Amino acid sequence: MLEDLSQHVLDIAENSVAAGASSVLIEIAEDLPGNILSMTVEDDGKGMSRDFLEKVADPFTTTRTTRRVGMGIPFLKQSAELCGGKFVISSVPGAGTRLEALFKYDCIDRPPLGDMPATVMTIFMGYPDINWTYRHIYGGREFSMTTEELALVLEDRELLRTAEVGLWIRGQIAEALLELRN
Ligand SMILES: Nc1ncnc2c1ncn2[C@@H]1O[C@H](COP(=O)(O)OP(=O)(O)OP(=O)(O)O)[C@@H](O)[C@H]1O
Ligand SMILES: [Mg+2]
Repeated sequence: MLEDLSQHVLDIAENSVAAGASSVLIEIAEDLPGNILSMTVEDDGKGMSRDFLEKVADPFTTTRTTRRVGMGIPFLKQSAELCGGKFVISSVPGAGTRLEALFKYDCIDRPPLGDMPATVMTIFMGYPDINWTYRHIYGGREFSMTTEELALVLEDRELLRTAEVGLWIRGQIAEALLELRN
């Protein structure tokens, strides 16, 4: 099992990259009064057929034996369901995929959020040509950062690959999350 939600985010975001997405939204929402932690990833990649979609969350279906066994989605689904949450995935071939995992916030078995600033840094630096949006909602407030806006400021989008910029991004997110929680 993956230990942190941030590791699930990385895994699911990599699926979007593999699907050829040009825009991807990653949203984390912490709703303490509602006792819900949710993670949503939405992309405009190649999508999945209805047949494939029905099997993708189940690692024991036959189609899985005919190719490399992927466990990213099954792990996330299992993790959410073990925490009184739910897992919803929808996809349209040629249009994109949306995946949402909900957890009971106070569930003792819930994976901790993990290091989102480092994870987002890794994703942005790794695939700077994709239009990423990271949105983090806490209570009624939210923070978001996009590679589009960063590219505008940097002028050269390739600078997103540099350690200096990556560390700056990580720092900005860490600060913003602290502020959200204040
Ligand atoms: N966002 C997506 N768009 C299109 N297809 C997807 C998407 N996410 C997953 N898939 C399809 O579902 C398969 C299973 O995904 P999953 O994350 O469970 O495993 P994997 O990526 O194949 O392997 P692993 O994550 O274990 O390295 C992928 O190989 C891909 O074919
Ligand atoms: Mg995967």
